[in-house]
Order: sequence, then C-alpha cells, then structure tokens
Amino acid sequence: MNDVSTDATLACRRLYWSALQDRWDRRTRQAAAWLADEAGVVDIGCGLMPLRDHLPAGTRYVPVDIVDRGPGTVLTDLNADPLPRFAERAAAMLGVVEYVTDLPRLFAQLRQFDRVVLSYNHASVQDVLWAMRLRRKEVIWLHRHGPARFARLLEDAGWHIARRHRVRVGEAMYDLRSSP
Ligand SMILES: C[S@@+](CC[C@H](N)C(=O)[O-])C[C@H]1O[C@@H](n2cnc3c(N)ncnc32)[C@H](O)[C@@H]1O
Repeated sequence: MNDVSTDATLACRRLYWSALQDRWDRRTRQAAAWLADEAGVVDIGCGLMPLRDHLPAGTRYVPVDIVDRGPGTVLTDLNADPLPRFAERAAAMLGVVEYVTDLPRLFAQLRQFDRVVLSYNHASVQDVLWAMRLRRKEVIWLHRHGPARFARLLEDAGWHIARRHRVRVGEAMYDLRSSP
C-alpha cells in the first residue's frame, strides 16, 4: 500500500526539479534573445548545448567545454588552459563562471570578444535549500561575490555592463560590452 506522505514528498521533489529546469530554460532564452543579432556565438561551458537550439537558425555556434559534448566541441579547462582564440565576436557563459577559480584571469581572457553574455549566482540560496534537504546535490560553486564586487571585477577587466537581468533569487545575467 502507498504511504500518502511519501507520495506528497515525491510530488514536491518532482515539482522542485521541474521548476529548476524551467529556470535554466528561462536563462537560456534570455541569453538567446540578447544574442539574436550576432552572426556567431561561442558557448563556453556549453553543457548539453541548449543555447544552440534557441539562437536564430543560421547563427554560427561554437561549443566549448571541459567535457566532449559532441561533434565540434572545443575542449578546454578554464582553470588550467589559456582560452583558445576564436573568430566569433560574441560569447556566452551560462552557469559556468561559478566554477572558475581565477575571475580576473577569466575576464581578461574574454576580452578577445566584443560582447559576452554571462550568468552568475551571487547568493547562496541553494546552500539553504541543501541544508533544508530540498536540494539533492550539494552546490560546489567556488565563490559567491555580491553584485557590487562582481561588477568591480568585470569593470577592472575592461567590461562595460550594458544590461543586467535578474533570472531568479540570487542569480543575474549580464550583457557585457568591451570598453574601449
Ligand atoms: C551548470 S553546467 C551549464 C551548461 C550550459 N551552459 C547550460 O546553461 O545549460 C556547467 C558547464 O560548465 C562546464 N565546466 C565546468 N568547469 C569547467 C572548466 N573548468 N572548464 C570548462 N568547462 C567547464 C561543465 O562541463 C558544464 O557543461
């Protein structure tokens, strides 16, 4: 016989994870909307390449990751290798910056692009969910800079924040242009 409370817990868990998927999807769609006019986009930390499917048909798409994610993936470890040079003028980094150790180095290397759209988790809301056992996987972000500190790191590397958009509690997206 089914235990009703177990069913309710399971239903809550499923709802939580499906909602998380939706939030990731929102992040991807926002980035695609901002990058819609770009001829080509380098997707750094591409994962399963959801961004590719949201960009307009005809946009050149270059996937980059530490793991081979399929044909055409440029392999690099952002914490060890120099970022390869790319012909495209725009890049995206969605859900990746949190795993990079040296942000000044990363932001300096990204200056090869004219424009970068990236996401960043400023707050540790996920830690609270983990402590409350509402999250299955422990968060392994390497830092959680506040918005002011994060903006200073970007500006020190020569980036101008053209737009900032809140995706969900603690997470924001940045549309960055290279300052002259
Ligand atoms: C949370 S996933 C995000 C994937 C995708 N951008 C998205 O929004 O669905 C983080 C991605 O960054 C990649 N990644 C993590 N550390 C990396 C590193 N040091 N160098 C390159 N890629 C890395 C992972 O392999 C993974 O694909």
